[in-house]
Amino acid sequence: MKKKDLLDKVINEDARNILEILPNDLTITTTITSPPYFDMKDYGSENQIGYGQSYENYLDDIQKVFNGVYNRTCEAGTLWVIIDTFKRNNQVVTLPFDLSDKLKQIGWLLQDIIIWKKDKTVPWSTNGFMQRKFEYILFFSKTPSYKSNKDSVRVYDTNHLKRWWVKYPERYNPRGKALDEIWEFPIPTQGSWGNKYIKHFCPLPESMVATMIQISSDEGDIVFDPFAGTGTVLSQSAYMKRRYIGLELNPSYVKMFETYLEKTIKDKSLEYDLYKQNNNQIKFEKNILDLRALKYARVLISKIEKESNISDFKILVTKRGDSNIENKLIKVEYNFIGTIDQKIVENILNEITIKPPLSKFGIDPVFKFSNQLELETNKFFGYTKTNTHSYEKNKEIDTKHIRVISEICIDLNENDYL
Ligand SMILES: C[S@@+](CC[C@H](N)C(=O)[O-])C[C@H]1O[C@@H](n2cnc3c(N)ncnc32)[C@H](O)[C@@H]1O
Repeated sequence: MKKKDLLDKVINEDARNILEILPNDLTITTTITSPPYFDMKDYGSENQIGYGQSYENYLDDIQKVFNGVYNRTCEAGTLWVIIDTFKRNNQVVTLPFDLSDKLKQIGWLLQDIIIWKKDKTVPWSTNGFMQRKFEYILFFSKTPSYKSNKDSVRVYDTNHLKRWWVKYPERYNPRGKALDEIWEFPIPTQGSWGNKYIKHFCPLPESMVATMIQISSDEGDIVFDPFAGTGTVLSQSAYMKRRYIGLELNPSYVKMFETYLEKTIKDKSLEYDLYKQNNNQIKFEKNILDLRALKYARVLISKIEKESNISDFKILVTKRGDSNIENKLIKVEYNFIGTIDQKIVENILNEITIKPPLSKFGIDPVFKFSNQLELETNKFFGYTKTNTHSYEKNKEIDTKHIRVISEICIDLNENDYL
C-alpha cells in the first residue's frame, strides 16, 4: 500500500505481514502496543496471534511482527511493549522476559523496564496467594541514541512533590522531578464506551499512552500500533497531532475505533492544546530558580558569619539572566550592603563558592560591595537569615532582622505540600 493511504488509519490486516503492508519509504518514530498475552483471551478472529497457538509459535509470530517494526523504524526510533506474566501448570510463565529475548535477537535494545502499577489485572488462572497489581512495560530503542523528550514529562505539579522542594530548591531539577520506574495509572473504569466495553477489552489508560507519546515523539511523527484493539494508542496520537497507523485483525474493532475517534477528536484535541498553553513547567522552573537565588544569599550569610566576626550587613539579590558557564543556570548579583572589610569577605567567598553546597546551586554569582544603598523600599521584599521562602510581611526592609533583600517575591509555606 502507498504511504498516503496508510497514514491516520487502522488497517484491517494481519500484523505478521507488516513488511508487505508498510512501504519502504514509511518510517515509524515510535511503536506503542500491547500484544495478545499468549492464549489468555480470544479476540474473535481467525488466525489471531496468541489464542489457539503453542507458546513457541506464539513467540515466533510476535518476533516476526517486531522484526517488521524494526525494519520500518527510524534510527532514533523506539518501541514500548505492555505485557504481563501468567500462570500455567502451577508456575509463572515469564512472558515479558521471553519476549524481550526474542526482541533482542532482532536488534532491539532494551532500555528500561517499567512497572505499571494499576488497581487490578487478570487474575492468575490457578490460585495465587497475592493480589495482582502490576504489569510490565518494556521500553526498547533501535540504536543507542534515540529520541527522548524526557524533560517534558518531568513531575512539576507541586501537588505531587514532597514539601522539601520549598526549603531545598537546589536539590530539585528546575524542570521538575524525573519520572521513576513505577508508573501509577488506574485502568479505565468509565468513559464513552461504558463499563461492558471496558471490561471486555481492558483498553490502556489514555494518560499513560499520552506520557509514552510525549517522551518518544514530536508533533508530525508517525506512531504505530500493530495490535490496535480499541485503538487507544492511535486516538491519543491523533489528539496529540501525531500521524498514526494501526493494524488490527478484527474488523469490528476497527469500526469501533473510527466511531470513537470521530466522537472524541474535537474535545480531546482542545484539551491537548490547553495543556500545552498552560505550561506550568515554566512557572515551576522560575520558582525553583528564584528560591535558589535567595537561598544562596542566606547560605553566604551563615558561612561568612561562621568564618569571620562580620555580621552587620545585608545582601541585595538581583537576577541577571542566564549564565554561559557550563553547569550554571543563572547569573545572580549579590550586593553586600554595610561597612564590612571587603578583602576578608572576598577571600571567604573565593573559598566557599567553589565547594558544595554553594557550588551545587547552578548559580553564576557576581559580587558587589556598597556601604549604603538608597532603595525604593516598596519595590523590595525582605527575608531573614533563616527563611528565604516567605518574605517578612510586617517589617521594613531596613530593620536589623532582615538580611536578604530582593525584588524577587516568594511566599511559600512548606506545610501546604505533602
Ligand atoms: C491486547 S489487545 C490490544 C489492546 C489495545 N492496546 C487497546 O488499548 O485496546 C491485542 C489485539 O491484537 C489483535 N490481534 C491478534 N492477532 C493479530 C494479528 N495477527 N494482526 C493484527 N492484530 C491482531 C487482537 O484482535 C486484539 O485486538
